[in-house]
Amino acid sequence: MRKPLPLLTSHPGGRSAMTCRYRCGDACFHEVPNTSANEYAGEVIARALSRRSVLRAGAVVGAVTAAGAGAVAGPGAAPASAAVPAGKDRRHGEAPTHGKAAKGLRFTPVAPNTADEVTVPEGYGQNVVIRWGEPILRGAPAFDPTRQSAEAQAGQFGYNNDFLTLLPLHPRGGRGHGGGADQLLVANHEYTNEELMFAGYDPEKPTREQVEIAWAAHGLSVVAVAGQRRTGTLRAVPRHPLNRRITATTPFEVTGPAAGSRLLRTSADPRGRRVLGTLNNCSGGTTPWGTVLSGEENFNQYFAHAEKVTDPQRAATLKRYGVVGGASQRRWERFDDRFDLTKEPNEVHRFGWVVEVDPYDPDSTPRKHTALGRFKHEAAQPRLTRDGHAVVYMGDDERFDYFYKFVSKKTMRRGRSAEDRRHNLSLLDEGTLYVARLSGNSPADEIDGKGTLPEDGEFDGTGRWIPLAEGDRSFVGGMSAEEVYVFTRLAADKAGATKMDRPEDIEPSPRTGRVYVALTNNTDRGAAGKAGPDEANPRRANKHGQVLEFAERGDDPPPASGREVPPSPRFSWRLFLVCGDPEDPGTYFGGFPKDEVSPISCPDNVTFDAYGNLWLSTDGNELGSHDGLFGVATAGGRRGQVRQFLTVPTGAETCGPLVQDRRVLVSVQHPGEVDGASVEKPASTWPDGPGKYVRPSVVAVWPEDGSDVGR
Ligand code: FEO
Ligand code: CA
Ligand code: CA
Ligand code: CA
Repeated sequence: MRKPLPLLTSHPGGRSAMTCRYRCGDACFHEVPNTSANEYAGEVIARALSRRSVLRAGAVVGAVTAAGAGAVAGPGAAPASAAVPAGKDRRHGEAPTHGKAAKGLRFTPVAPNTADEVTVPEGYGQNVVIRWGEPILRGAPAFDPTRQSAEAQAGQFGYNNDFLTLLPLHPRGGRGHGGGADQLLVANHEYTNEELMFAGYDPEKPTREQVEIAWAAHGLSVVAVAGQRRTGTLRAVPRHPLNRRITATTPFEVTGPAAGSRLLRTSADPRGRRVLGTLNNCSGGTTPWGTVLSGEENFNQYFAHAEKVTDPQRAATLKRYGVVGGASQRRWERFDDRFDLTKEPNEVHRFGWVVEVDPYDPDSTPRKHTALGRFKHEAAQPRLTRDGHAVVYMGDDERFDYFYKFVSKKTMRRGRSAEDRRHNLSLLDEGTLYVARLSGNSPADEIDGKGTLPEDGEFDGTGRWIPLAEGDRSFVGGMSAEEVYVFTRLAADKAGATKMDRPEDIEPSPRTGRVYVALTNNTDRGAAGKAGPDEANPRRANKHGQVLEFAERGDDPPPASGREVPPSPRFSWRLFLVCGDPEDPGTYFGGFPKDEVSPISCPDNVTFDAYGNLWLSTDGNELGSHDGLFGVATAGGRRGQVRQFLTVPTGAETCGPLVQDRRVLVSVQHPGEVDGASVEKPASTWPDGPGKYVRPSVVAVWPEDGSDVGR
């Protein structure tokens, strides 16, 4: 299944210097923003344990589990299926299965490769659903990159699609209306790469038109799509009444407890409640009430002249968010003062939120939810508690940053009236915001930094959700509630959160309730002056990342009204995958035999199929192959058997995976983004061949025999 490949030169995390520059403002080349002195809780416990050196690992597990069990006894306990059981999570006595793959993953795995195309399993077909620049709104012209204008781009599909979701078409749109549309595709557009968008682009001197095109190419797109039952092809339906573009200048309403805060007021918006645009929308989520969430990630890179900020407190908050000095990468501050920190000090506080879009109402004002905190939001995939509260898990994608959850105060209504919809659209306005603190259960000296499993056979332990704020109440000493929401990273530092290896997408399994956290990589883990390996982040100079699995130990307590500080709910965790080349002894695949798994590096976005298999896309493969999409069973005899489903073209990242019964969709983001590439000297000719612009696009893949995916 595997074929050794020469290692390609790349920047830390496996990406090209060009991707680092345009996507995240060279985050990995700047100082790690988290310089807080949080101690990993596991170290405290492990030190105490190693003093009692006669304790065997088994006894340690027993002690921790017993304490946990006591804490969750009673009606609040999680369903048994959600618990993280001890051992390898196979039914008793069940051996790993060497024959057929798990249902849903029965395809011939794609070998790692560097082909400039989307490589899919034998017997699968594919088509490009929509490309950057295709017209979606009425009146938008056909794509002509040599005559592109901001006005044209505002009616066309944006650049660098990342998150993807498909929703049923609202009756208002109706099948047959506008080209037989049957679903609604919502995608976001994380960032622009001007060097691949404009011939002869001069990064020092962008023109106003180029800058305005880039504003219009950011944001989100809503576009109706029509599927062909016979072939599996999926096509965009232009000019559908629900089609919409949201850009870097679309008005957003600020909601939640920090709306109107003095920290959010600007000269254009003295009330602090209306922001123009959304930036760097990375992954996202689909809510049970039929809206779409999207995370504003590396927003820091769009703001210029932090070095001129003299107030030390302000300078410290900018630093903690990675806002560095000098001109911005795209020089937008030359064309709009709000991107100049010396002119509009608070504009930067108006980005870094989770946004919510109602795709069924093209006239609705999208929202920025302050109750979910401000950081480099990767994604936000909600689940409902048994009694209907919305729980949103969120990662802050930065080396040594944290993961969070939000629990809504109100519960979701199941009705379909306009009143019910209004109610559900306010669910994320109020609730409790928590950050995760993890403890390992193995002695610290068993975590050798190379990925060797500790004596108890697992990287595992327990965790607590530390409450940061709830509505207008702060639980963080020295910070008001509005400060907790706007400067969430600083609040989490004070709360003693656990420093993780770039927490990206986090999703609960709809089958088991267990939650999966993709931790992409962290080449600084264990470097001089930085946090060392711990049981949840066990490798030094971690190039390949890991996937953590956790189970809540009970339902979230109701809002803390009347209590000083709400309780810290508990969870149990363990590493499900320690990624890399299976021949590397420091890898782990849920205990599955390593000779039967696909190599995987830098897990990023996650989703589930109808069978409960976890699907992972990668960002920055460090094994010399192009990025890809992988499926893996999380339970049963094949738990941990990673199987590669596709690879993407040169320079690209696999994003937005979506697995339906008959189709798999991926975002092919930043194809051709290779150092030295330009419009004149492209590094990729995907998707349209030589002589055409390389274009980020959405791709659909399906079994050609009309069967279900992976059957
Ligand atoms: Fe935009 Fe964390 O990836
Ligand atoms: Ca352990
Ligand atoms: Ca991502
Ligand atoms: Ca990523």
